[in-house]
Amino acid sequence: MIDLSGKVAVVTGSGRGLGKGIVMKLASLGAETIVSDIDDRSIQETVQEIQSYGGKAFGKACNVSQPDEAEEFVQEVIARYGTIDILVNNAGINRDAMMHKMSVEEWQQVMNVNINGVFYMMQPAVKVMREKESGSVINISSASWQGNIGQANYAAAKAGVIGLTKTAAKELGKKGVTVNAICPGFIETDMTRGVPDHVWDMMVNKIALGRAGQPEDVANCIAFLASEQANYITGEVINVGGGMVL
Ligand SMILES: NC(=O)c1ccc[n+]([C@@H]2O[C@H](COP(=O)([O-])OP(=O)(O)OC[C@H]3O[C@@H](n4cnc5c(N)ncnc54)[C@H](O)[C@@H]3O)[C@@H](O)[C@H]2O)c1
Repeated sequence: MIDLSGKVAVVTGSGRGLGKGIVMKLASLGAETIVSDIDDRSIQETVQEIQSYGGKAFGKACNVSQPDEAEEFVQEVIARYGTIDILVNNAGINRDAMMHKMSVEEWQQVMNVNINGVFYMMQPAVKVMREKESGSVINISSASWQGNIGQANYAAAKAGVIGLTKTAAKELGKKGVTVNAICPGFIETDMTRGVPDHVWDMMVNKIALGRAGQPEDVANCIAFLASEQANYITGEVINVGGGMVL
C-alpha cells in the first residue's frame, strides 16, 4: 500500500487533465498537495474536489514558462511547507504543424512551456531536495519524443525532457534524490479529445490494450515513483501507454 502521508507534492498544470488526475491521486494517498496551473478557476475547482474527500490541497497559480514566476512559486511553497518532497512537472502544451509550416512562435511557445518550464521548476526545487538528501522528481515526457509527424516542436521538447531527467538523475543520485520520466501514450484529456474521429480510431488501433488511457492510469505509475517503494529507481523513462509503443 502506497502511503504519501506527510509528503509535500507539487504538480504543475494540475487544474485539469492528466495533472488533475495525478494531484488527486497523490492527495488520496495522504500527500499535502499544491495544485498549480495558469488557469485560476481550474485550480480552485481541483482544490475543492480534493478537499471534498478529505484530501489536503492548496492552490497557487504559476506559469512555468516564466523563470521568475517559477522561482517565486517554489520559494512560496517552501516558505509555507518547509520543503518539497515530490515535484511532478506535468504542464505542457501542443502547437502542432508540419515543420515547413510551423511558425517560430509555435516553436518557441512549446519550448518555453514543455522544456524550459521543466528546468525553471526543477532548478529551485532540487536545491531544497539536495539539502535534505531526499526527494522525487517525475517529469512528463511523451511517446512522441521519438518523433511524430506534425510535432517537431513537441517531440524536440519531450526528448529534451528525457535528457534533462537523466542528467539530473546522475547529478542528484548521491544526494538521495530520484528523477524519472514518464511517457504517456494516448490519454483521454482536453489535449486529445479534440482530434477528429478517424484520428482517434487510428490512435486506439495502435494500442495493444485496445483503449485510450485515462489520467488515473498515469497517476498510478506516478504514485509508485513518488513512494518509498521506488527509491532505487532513477533516471528511468517509463512508457504508460497500454502498449502503444512496443
Ligand atoms: N493527453 C495525452 O495523450 C498525453 C500524451 C503524452 C504526454 N502528455 C503530456 O501530459 C501533460 C498533460 O497533458 P494533458 O493531456 O493533461 O493536457 P491538457 O491540455 O488537458 O492540460 C494541460 C494543463 O497544463 C496547463 N498549462 C498550460 N500551460 C501552462 C503553463 N505555462 N504553466 C502552467 N500550467 C500550464 C493547462 O492550463 C492545463 O491545465 C503534458 O505535458 C502533455 O504534453 C499528454
